[in-house]
Amino acid sequence: MVAKKYLIETWGCQMNEEDSEKMAGILKSIGYESATKREEADIIIFNTCAVRENAELKVFGNLGHLKTLKMQKPDLIIGICGCMMQQKGMPEEIKKKYPYVDIIFGTHNIHRLPELINNVKQANSTVIEVWEQEGEIVEGLPIERKSDIKAFVTIMHGCNNFCTYCIVPYTRGRERSRKPEDIINEIKDLAKKGYKEITLLGQNVNSYGKDLENMSFAKLLRMVNEIDGIERIRFTTSHPKDLTEDVILAIKECDKLCEHIHLPVQSGSTRILNKMNRKYTKEQYLDLVNLIRKHIPDVAITTDIIVGFPGETEEDFLETLDLVEKVRYDSAFTFIYSKRKGTPAAEYEDQVPEDIKHERFNKLIEVVNRIIEEKNATYKDKVVEVLIEEVSKTDETKLTGRTRTGKLVHFSSDNMNLIGKLAKVKITEPRNFILIGELQEIIR
Ligand code: 5AD
Ligand code: SF4
Repeated sequence: MVAKKYLIETWGCQMNEEDSEKMAGILKSIGYESATKREEADIIIFNTCAVRENAELKVFGNLGHLKTLKMQKPDLIIGICGCMMQQKGMPEEIKKKYPYVDIIFGTHNIHRLPELINNVKQANSTVIEVWEQEGEIVEGLPIERKSDIKAFVTIMHGCNNFCTYCIVPYTRGRERSRKPEDIINEIKDLAKKGYKEITLLGQNVNSYGKDLENMSFAKLLRMVNEIDGIERIRFTTSHPKDLTEDVILAIKECDKLCEHIHLPVQSGSTRILNKMNRKYTKEQYLDLVNLIRKHIPDVAITTDIIVGFPGETEEDFLETLDLVEKVRYDSAFTFIYSKRKGTPAAEYEDQVPEDIKHERFNKLIEVVNRIIEEKNATYKDKVVEVLIEEVSKTDETKLTGRTRTGKLVHFSSDNMNLIGKLAKVKITEPRNFILIGELQEIIR
């Protein structure tokens, strides 16, 4: 018998990517194989994001496209899950507008996928199962990872911060830390399988362990650093209010911890930060950046910035530009504020007009990109350590990888056996978003 095939399409953050890898693992464990395109699939699952409206609109558009496919192939199972489904009224809206969707589930019950698929076979309308509350953390789910070299490992779920623009605390629930032994065992197992790089994931990794006894994020980092076989450890995301000096010292002292901190600032105006409920001032953020650079001089700092938060004046925006000039980020994700139903900021009356938001966004990108280019230019003629990850997607004669600071490097080689190795690469031509280099030697 030919095996049935699955296709999972993922929007949003790394947390969603990891959930999709878990769903792939679950589907494999019940006999499905992966498909490369929609037409081949017997089950298609959309794992959705709710952080900005744009992502939602794309999901709606894609659901529309599936209608023809479902008509041609009535046995096709269509599932939709993720953060969008945790919003009040959304599952019902989807069921009404897209009645050919078979399964709707949320972020808290992906482990229920096999039962939900079974239920579809008996049901004659959409099966909806969205848990409002997070349950216990489910350990031991099978997982089918996309890469053989780099792996995401979730260390905590949820968020307690309630930034006033953000939907995540409502879609992912309260903070819950995984037990350190579960995390360590998972990473030891990855090391055994040959994985070289681990990224520890959480909405706010710096509050890891606050709900456990005698545990902290810095402690966990030092424990992970001891695992043989792993070459590099990264983590994301850090909330500036919770990033402590002991975490900075762990990065400085642990050889496997990469010199890169993603430190979302969101705004450079203390007044706006206050309205966002971020719990730090512009000055405190800059002090933190100085402390990080004092301990780790070559660190790369990246960030997230929102423009056009309700009430943001030209002056507030200039504060953001000023902060960007002071910090000089290695990279930044820039966002236009998007109103999210159910969050406090969506109710604020002083929303910024669309044209002004776009104007500020373009100005911000200009400054951010200029600085990235200037920073990349300093890599010229430097020899950097690169973990070789894959053949370049755009040029088969090149291999690609990243520096410890997270910069993408391309160099000429058609030797696929080098994938997974650490190498020294001399940068010959820094560009805006990549560094072109020449392979010097393989380290190991
Ligand atoms: N509008 C725009 N950007 C947002 N983010 C979160 N919520 C919103 C919103 N409503 C951004 C923040 C966060 C990143 C993941 O997404 O910058 O750090
Ligand atoms: Fe959203 Fe703020 Fe939590 Fe990040 S820390 S997930 S921005 S509420």
